[in-house]
Amino acid sequence: MANDASRQGRTALVTGGAGCLGRAIAIALHDAGHQVLVTYHNSAAAARAWQDEQAGLGRDFTLYQVDVADNAACQALVRQLEQDGRQVDILINNAGITRDASLRKMSYDNWSEVMRSNLDSMFNMTQPLCGAMADRGWGRIVNISSVNGSKGAFGQANYAASKAGIHGFTKSLALELARKGVTVNTISPGYLATSMVKAVPEEVLKEKILPQIPLGRLGEPDEVAALVAFVCSDAAAFMTGSNIAMNGGQHMY
Ligand code: CAA
Repeated sequence: MANDASRQGRTALVTGGAGCLGRAIAIALHDAGHQVLVTYHNSAAAARAWQDEQAGLGRDFTLYQVDVADNAACQALVRQLEQDGRQVDILINNAGITRDASLRKMSYDNWSEVMRSNLDSMFNMTQPLCGAMADRGWGRIVNISSVNGSKGAFGQANYAASKAGIHGFTKSLALELARKGVTVNTISPGYLATSMVKAVPEEVLKEKILPQIPLGRLGEPDEVAALVAFVCSDAAAFMTGSNIAMNGGQHMY
C-alpha cells in the first residue's frame, strides 16, 4: 500500500501539552524530526507562552484546544485537523489528572472526573484517528499510564483504576491494528519531577514515596520523553502491546 508516512518527519499529536511530561514529549518528537501538534485544555495563555518560548529556540509547535474528556469535543478536533490538512501518524495519549483521596473520602466527582479524563480520553482521541493510520499502513499510538496503574497507591483508587484500564485498552487495540502497521503501546512512568507530583504533600513525598524508589530520586520528564520518541520510531516496529516501565526501580514487573 502507498505509504506517504514512510519517512522521518511524520506528524504527531500530543495531548496534555500544558503539562511537564506533555511538553517534554512534544520536544523529543520535534527533535526526532516530526511535526508536532499539541493540545491543551484550559491554559491557553500558558500554552501560547510556551509555544512562543519554543519558537525562540527554533521549535515550531501547533496548538489545538480540546477537553479530552469530552467525546464531542474530540470529534470536533479531528474534523478541524482534517480541515487543516493534518494527517496524524503518531498519537500520544498523555493528558491526565489526579483527584487524590482515600476511598472513604472520595466523592463521585473525584472518581468520574479522573475516569473521564484518563480513560474515556483513550477512546475519545484514538477512535477517530486510528482508522486513517490503519488505512495508510503506518502509525504509532502511545498511551501514558503510570506505575500506580500496576502497583496501586494510597489515595489513588480512581487514578490507579484508570491507569490500569489504559493497558487493557492498549492490548486490545494492539491486536486489532497489528497487521496494519500500527503499533500500540503503554508507557508507565513512575514519579517524575512534574507539577502533578509536586502537588503531593511534601511530607508524603519525602516520607512515603521517595523511600520506595531504589534510585532515590524523581524521574525527569525528558527521560520518559526519550523513551516515547524511541517507541514512535521505525526501530521500534516489532514492539506492540507492551507496557514499558520507567520508574527508578519502584515497581519491577
Ligand atoms: N501510605 C500509608 N499510609 C498513608 C499514606 C501512604 N502513602 N498516605 C497517608 N497515609 C496515612 C496517614 O499517615 C494517616 O494515617 P493515620 O490515620 O494513622 O494518622 C492516614 O493515612 C490519613 O488518611 P486520610 O484518608 O485521612 O488521608 P488524608 O486525607 O490525610 O490524605 C491523601 C490522603 C490525599 C491520599 C494524601 O496522603 C496524598 O496526597 N497522598 C499522595 C498520593 C499519591 O501518591 N499521589 C500521586 C500523585 S502523582 C501521580 O499520580 C503521577 C504518577 O503517575 C506517579
